[in-house]
Amino acid sequence: MNQQDSRKWIGQPLDRVDGPAKVTGQATYAADYRGNSPAAIGFIVEAGIGKGRIVSIDTRAAEASDGVLLVLTHQNAPEQAPFGSHDDAGRFGQSHAVLENENVKYHGAPVAFVVAETLEQARHAAHLVSVRYDQQPGVFDAEAHEDKATKPDSLDGADQADKEVGHFEPAFEKSAVTVEAEYHTPSQHASAMEPHATVAEWSDGKLTVHMAVQIIADARKGFANTLKIEPGDVRIVSPFIGGGFGSKLGIHNEAILAALAARELDRPVRVAQTRRNLFANGPHRTAHRHRLKLGADADGRLQAVSHDSLAVMSRGYPFAEAAGGLTQSSYAAEAIRMSHRIVEANVPKVDSMRAPGEAIGTLVFESAIDELAERCGIDPIEFRLLNEPETEPGSGKSFSTRPLARCLREGAAKFGWQSGVVRPGMKRDGRWLIGHGVAAAIRPNNIEPAGAEASLARDGRLTLSLDMTDIGTGTYTILGQIAAETLGMDTGAVEVRLGDSDFVETCGSGGSFGAGSTGTAVQQACDSIRTDILARAARIDPDWSGVNSADLTIDGDRVSVGDRSLALGDILDAVGGEAFRAKSHIKPGDAHKTMAQYSYGALFAEVGVDADTAEIRLRRLLGVFDAGRILNHKTAHSQLMGGMIFGIGAGLLEESLMDMRYGAFMNRDLAEYHIAVNRDVPRLEVHMLEGFDEHSNPLGSKGIGELGICGTGPAIANAVYDATGHRARKFPIHIEDVLPAVARLTKGNAASR
Ligand code: MOS
Repeated sequence: MNQQDSRKWIGQPLDRVDGPAKVTGQATYAADYRGNSPAAIGFIVEAGIGKGRIVSIDTRAAEASDGVLLVLTHQNAPEQAPFGSHDDAGRFGQSHAVLENENVKYHGAPVAFVVAETLEQARHAAHLVSVRYDQQPGVFDAEAHEDKATKPDSLDGADQADKEVGHFEPAFEKSAVTVEAEYHTPSQHASAMEPHATVAEWSDGKLTVHMAVQIIADARKGFANTLKIEPGDVRIVSPFIGGGFGSKLGIHNEAILAALAARELDRPVRVAQTRRNLFANGPHRTAHRHRLKLGADADGRLQAVSHDSLAVMSRGYPFAEAAGGLTQSSYAAEAIRMSHRIVEANVPKVDSMRAPGEAIGTLVFESAIDELAERCGIDPIEFRLLNEPETEPGSGKSFSTRPLARCLREGAAKFGWQSGVVRPGMKRDGRWLIGHGVAAAIRPNNIEPAGAEASLARDGRLTLSLDMTDIGTGTYTILGQIAAETLGMDTGAVEVRLGDSDFVETCGSGGSFGAGSTGTAVQQACDSIRTDILARAARIDPDWSGVNSADLTIDGDRVSVGDRSLALGDILDAVGGEAFRAKSHIKPGDAHKTMAQYSYGALFAEVGVDADTAEIRLRRLLGVFDAGRILNHKTAHSQLMGGMIFGIGAGLLEESLMDMRYGAFMNRDLAEYHIAVNRDVPRLEVHMLEGFDEHSNPLGSKGIGELGICGTGPAIANAVYDATGHRARKFPIHIEDVLPAVARLTKGNAASR
């Protein structure tokens, strides 16, 4: 590589810059923060009923217990804005008031908060709080209360809850081949490695919060609105976050409780939630019932597609998942319909989790597509190619790019796909029934408003400051690459400062929009610095006027263009100033309204199903993805691989089980809530197409974080069908669901012998 090429940083598979700090324990996560004075420790007392009223609460024993400093209940909790108020600030910025009154909204909701000198003292005293309840029948399950279902006012990730393009019923009626099926997807918990934690401290009426949160600006609003203080009096610090997956988009009970208690005690208060706490005091994805109807003509051309979903919404917290959103963008059809219904229920906060909408939507929809292809007698890849749309079927908009067919074709070649109609039970490896499955992944590409500030010092060191977060995705690294490439400098000379509300506001991390949005803001700020340097240099030396800013490089403390070279300090001395500074602010361009923008993928799975026990082992998983231009091949690879591993969970493992008598989640730890572990994860292959979506942003990149999860679950489900003849209607797929099909196959084989 020559000097010029080595400065093309964007795309290079650089190691994470925060890696050494993390593996040596130097990275301070929220609960690691130690202020000037020792923090008191808080512990949440959870409600033991799903719905009802606190009749009495006795805190005397807890208050008298060793080390206890404060016990907050609804009787002595400081005044807050009512939960849900300021809804114009969005669900993350609205009031998140706690301990408001004697009413219990859901099982595990805080009924008291104990603060003591040590964790052990707080936890012990929490068990001494005695609560008597008047228990009332609650609503915990959408299907049992379908008569109460309503259309949600808003849907996360789609513009309308109900939509019909064309006329569904007649198109379905006249279809030669149909699939009509009901599916169930489970409740799930994000289960980030770092449980939610907050350290709150007050000084002169101003609140500083060290916490794990994905979107800092919204968190600031959330505290201000709840506590009735000015957003400017709240500082949020979140430099390192041990995974979010949606569960840290907003703020949760522990954060508000810490802030309230710290103000009462005039002392920092730390709360690190336990894994158990999180199943009630953190958000979750809720269970859905999906009804799908698909119709095709005799040649396998889709005529009619409909997806109706039903789920609960946590009472007073407006979030509904767009499970059917992708039906309008996946395949061409004469008529497309979707509907979403919700039942307000006494369940903990239901919120975004890992590709909200698409993850569960593709799980069932791509399963149904596989079934329809089979009934049409067409290879599942051919079927998808046959129904590729010219424009977005639900809106008529042009796609910014549409390389789904290429993902499918390249994936088929790499995987060794054997074309043909799926015929279950034909492949065998000893005792294992072998199955292959394919599914498409489609995930909306969004850009959100974001700012950035850049400062280039006379010694040639560049500092970027923005309130963006790195939730383990690689933000620190890619922003440095974008800045270094823009200014023709070494990435080692760039310092990226994130995770502090004192820095310029951004969109934060979520919805796979973080990298494209903040990356563009960083590029623009650095571009302004480049322009500024040249303008100032031209004032010193006219020889610098008119040069191409793209040719500018910075080496140590000198800036050069071709054979011209100046010390940065000399420029600053001549024109005044200590550093070159620039601020940027970007927002989505019109092409985000006028065009349909998505990232794509094709997922291929090979499973083995034990011919006697129906044990399912995933043997191979391969994905070919298009997310426009890849900003760092290593972090992107990890993002996609992580998404695929979540997809394994969606297909085979993850479910939060609720006891419907009480509305209580039962499997509240990682022994019983099954995340895919190494033993569950086979050889994964991740391939990325080299794309550039000029309509997405100037970098050409598209969202990648939530892409891998879409398509993986259904590829596995379709492979299980190929192996056994079992069509999954309920996720995750359990052994006992597959056993009857396996038994039929085995009996059939025995009979034919
Ligand atoms: Mo994501 S579920 O928007 O963090």
